[in-house]
Amino acid sequence: MDLKLKNKTVFVSGSSKGIGFETAKLFLEEGATVIINGRTEKSVKNALKKLNTPKVSGIAANFIADKQIDELIKKLPDIDILVNNVGIFRGKNFYDETEKDWKDHIQVNLLGGVKLSKHFLPKMIKKNWGRIIFVSSECATLVPGDLLSYSVSKASVNVFSSGLAKLTKGTNVTVNTIIPGSTLSEGSKIFLKEAAKRENKTIEEVESNFFKDVRPSSLLGRFAKVEEVASTIVYISSPLASATNGASVRVDGGSMGSVF
Ligand SMILES: NC(=O)c1ccc[n+]([C@@H]2O[C@H](COP(=O)([O-])OP(=O)(O)OC[C@H]3O[C@@H](n4cnc5c(N)ncnc54)[C@H](OP(=O)(O)O)[C@@H]3O)[C@@H](O)[C@H]2O)c1
Repeated sequence: MDLKLKNKTVFVSGSSKGIGFETAKLFLEEGATVIINGRTEKSVKNALKKLNTPKVSGIAANFIADKQIDELIKKLPDIDILVNNVGIFRGKNFYDETEKDWKDHIQVNLLGGVKLSKHFLPKMIKKNWGRIIFVSSECATLVPGDLLSYSVSKASVNVFSSGLAKLTKGTNVTVNTIIPGSTLSEGSKIFLKEAAKRENKTIEEVESNFFKDVRPSSLLGRFAKVEEVASTIVYISSPLASATNGASVRVDGGSMGSVF
């Protein structure tokens, strides 16, 4: 299938690793021009080296610092597709979560995408084509007790994205949210490794226990591969997905269990 992305320019936040990196890689395979992002020059440089094509460039910016998002916006060229993928995740008991944990989750997971959308949506509407994608999480509706600030930030992403889509009425611009379930990204690999060490178990045992005890609702019963999430992001970003707007598209392995 030709996804018709060859003349498109894409920015993917948080794309030096994980789902974002794989998304950038798939866009490049489809012939798009891609700008990647990570917190440091070093991590961006490493990712660019791995992608190894003149069609990719990178901008370091830490979304925790609002000023760095402003600088990022100044450096970005005109883009056709904005993928708000960056997300942080700190698992903590509610009583241990600090005010900073709450603010950081909202800042990185929600407000960065709000600022980028405010800048790029009017430009997309003016040229009558564009895609804005938000990456949420199954936690937006599962709301685990040890992930309250993360879950709230992700639920607010779904709400914001749905409202933003309404501003595209009558145009060829769409705004959609992708909802991954547990996915084997770099972040999850670190989580599994640390849990295995802490519990004196193998990584396979930790993964199997995770789906038995923590995500029993998962139909997939394993971590999704980053490719499985990235391919959905790239399809929904493509001209082929023109009739999907204001949607929340689940790649949750069935864990959320809802009909719609
Ligand atoms: N993995 C899962 O199980 C899962 C499940 C549901 C939803 N999600 C969502 O999917 C998205 C991607 O997650 P992932 O698991 O692929 O992440 P990951 O493997 O931990 O990778 C994180 C990426 O984001 C960048 N990053 C982290 N903090 C940043 C910041 N403050 N500013 C700019 N860049 C930053 C990292 O860059 P550097 O480290 O190079 O700086 C890296 O490129 C997130 O929104 C996450 O909430 C993930």
